[in-house]
Amino acid sequence: MADSWVNSAEGIGADLHLELAGSGGRRAALIDALREAVRGGRLAPGTGLPPYRSLAADLGVARNTVGDAYAELVAEGWLTARQGSGTRVAARAEPLDAHARVPVKAPARARGPRHDLRQGTPDASSFPRAAWLASYRRALQQAPNEAFGPGDPAGRIELRRALTEYLARVRGVRTEPGRIVVCSGFAHALRLLFPAVLQGPLAVESYGLGFHRELLAAASVRTVPLSLDEDGARVGELGRERGVLLTPAHQFPTGGPLHPERRAAVIDWARARGGVIVEDDYDGEFRYDRKPVGAVQGLDPERVIHIGSVSKSLSPALRLGWMVLPERYVDAVLAVKGEREAWAGVPDQLALADFIVSGSYDRHVRRMRQRYRRRRDRLVAALAERAPHIEVTGVAAGLHAVLRLPPGTEQSAVKAAVWQGVALDGLGDFRHPEAVTAAPDGLVVGYATPAEHAYAAAVDALCGVLPPV
Ligand SMILES: Cc1ncc(COP(=O)(O)O)c(C=O)c1O
Repeated sequence: MADSWVNSAEGIGADLHLELAGSGGRRAALIDALREAVRGGRLAPGTGLPPYRSLAADLGVARNTVGDAYAELVAEGWLTARQGSGTRVAARAEPLDAHARVPVKAPARARGPRHDLRQGTPDASSFPRAAWLASYRRALQQAPNEAFGPGDPAGRIELRRALTEYLARVRGVRTEPGRIVVCSGFAHALRLLFPAVLQGPLAVESYGLGFHRELLAAASVRTVPLSLDEDGARVGELGRERGVLLTPAHQFPTGGPLHPERRAAVIDWARARGGVIVEDDYDGEFRYDRKPVGAVQGLDPERVIHIGSVSKSLSPALRLGWMVLPERYVDAVLAVKGEREAWAGVPDQLALADFIVSGSYDRHVRRMRQRYRRRRDRLVAALAERAPHIEVTGVAAGLHAVLRLPPGTEQSAVKAAVWQGVALDGLGDFRHPEAVTAAPDGLVVGYATPAEHAYAAAVDALCGVLPPV
């Protein structure tokens, strides 16, 4: 059994874990442990070992013991000792099983499609690195020491204040910092809410993200599909469900906003039945026509859980989002989060707070909105010219378009796209398995994903795979 573990980084710039075991004395145990570390490949040829002094202190053994162990391993050829460069693992010291090993090829880089028109990702090459770094630096400089302790599960107050102001100004959300809980994005919010805080059955739009339906199914929540038409979800179909999940700003994926009368009707339903509306505001900032579409939450903050994240506006890699809660759910959600923040890193939260308060977020969203609008216009123009029989819909907002196809051609168009290296989704991929009505055939084309320089070629390739008249 091991009687001592050390973890020494001094002198080698990396952790060194040594297990001193056995009954043959400290010197022999140390020799065995070091030999095993070299033989097993944990200490690679050329790696520097810690100075005698620090390893001895870490292990609680005499400095001579370490010196003797090193000398023994130098004599055996495992280590080399040279004046000025300390003790290192010998260049020839090969791991015991080196010859038995199957040669490991450098992992092939996963080759993505040539043209990535999948929905779901913003242009990763446009991440505002300099502005984010400036916010991060300021946030770290100004953060009080307590910010580096365990995080508050509600989220940093700086961020919740910034979000309160931002969401009111940009999305018409009515709230206060005490009703905001920071999370790592929409999917995380669903996991926090279901099943601990909310239970099914839950009405959902008949077309939506399968991943979210799977999360709900995993939480034993039965989802009931609501039909869609040009005014969005038919909320008149709502009955005894306990809640409804909607994408009111930009129905995902078909693309229209929820009609004002339906917004009012869904609030009426929630009030009459004691139901709750879960609002997924996934790309609420990207609206291109002049009509602003505010959050449904603004109509009744006590009936709507409003959820947003930076996944579309900045990057899905940041894993930062927020839930704006009716007061009655705040404690229950915090109870699910536990005593300490376990998901959203505090420095990132502080950086986002600075990013918002300094105006960088507004500037970035404005710049990206212009860029995505130009892309949308190029897509629409290219299709008008090269495939005028294909109708483009859902393009007043968001980062994707829906191309309506002639009946019966969706599957073959998706296959043709795969053959031509164009990644995109068929509309049918998003259909709820119990949906009563099917939308016409269509392709969901994300126009944000390619880098700027790759976009023209992607649109060109897309036009080449569309079914003829
Ligand atoms: C419909 C929909 N909701 C929400 C999100 C955001 O998800 P998350 O915040 O978990 O990254 C996305 C992102 O792609 C989405 O497509």
